[in-house]
Amino acid sequence: MIDEIKRLKKEKNAVILAHYYQEPEIQDIADFLGDSLTLSQQAAKTNADIIVFAGVNFMAEVAKILNPFKKVLIPDKEAGCSLSDMCKKEDFIKFLNRYTGYKVISYINSSTEIKALSDVICTSSNAVLIAESFPKDEKIVFAPDKNLGAYVNSVTGRNMVLWEGSCMVHEVYSIEKIIKLKIENPDAKLIAHPECKEPVLKIADFIGSTTSLLNYTIKNESKKFIVATETGIIHQMKKESPDKIFIGAPIDDSECACGECKFMKLNTLEKLYLCLKNEEPEIKIQEELRIKAEKPILRMFQISGK
Ligand code: 13P
Ligand code: SF4
Repeated sequence: MIDEIKRLKKEKNAVILAHYYQEPEIQDIADFLGDSLTLSQQAAKTNADIIVFAGVNFMAEVAKILNPFKKVLIPDKEAGCSLSDMCKKEDFIKFLNRYTGYKVISYINSSTEIKALSDVICTSSNAVLIAESFPKDEKIVFAPDKNLGAYVNSVTGRNMVLWEGSCMVHEVYSIEKIIKLKIENPDAKLIAHPECKEPVLKIADFIGSTTSLLNYTIKNESKKFIVATETGIIHQMKKESPDKIFIGAPIDDSECACGECKFMKLNTLEKLYLCLKNEEPEIKIQEELRIKAEKPILRMFQISGK
């Protein structure tokens, strides 16, 4: 299957972009592996005719928004995002009506409809920079992740109004179990994605997007890390630092304890092969909506220096 994927990729001039939360075998076959920001940047500059996006829908949609004349495929069309799903267009319009005159920063983990209602998009790696690009007294609505929004507020001293959304993977880490694990492993560094809840972020040694967490584990001299983000990233961390130990952060008892994003894991190598072979499922976006959603993404690139 791997040989076939490679052959089809060449024959069709296709590129495979994969997020760090994908299954290891998908990560290993990808042309580009990265976090949401780097993947959207790759999507913006690819010369391929076909983009296979091994990630979730909102990521593949960003690739399509930036490449209206290219074919963008996703191995499993059901690969959604709990965070994006928590912010529906009709509800968001009502919400924005309460905050007239506010600028809108939307996290990339949102639907194309929400992006179209926004002034600028951010990812977890540039959220602080994007917020700081506005004057200090600017009134801002931040959606849909309340944890990332609260983190940006705490770093920048701003008071952005936050939409009540969260990620089902990052919300469920158990602070009690993490503290216990830290006590048992005093040599371990706790690293966390900013989608985690405030108590986890408060005791983290380092906070950052998946790419910055990976880079931190490479550069930091510590030999042990407690990783508070989706466990898929541990594959790259182990590859980069085979001599180091990585422990997935423990999860609340009441929750499924796998630490995996069930949406990201819907994509499999077989589905990736089939989608490249059959050229479906394909991402399609109505042109008027695409144009509206593209503007705030390009503004993000402009602010973050692409
Ligand atoms: P990154 O910005 O680190 O890619 O985060 C994406 C994501 O979905 C986190 O849940
Ligand atoms: Fe969405 Fe959370 Fe999955 Fe990221 S990890 S894609 S925010 S559900």
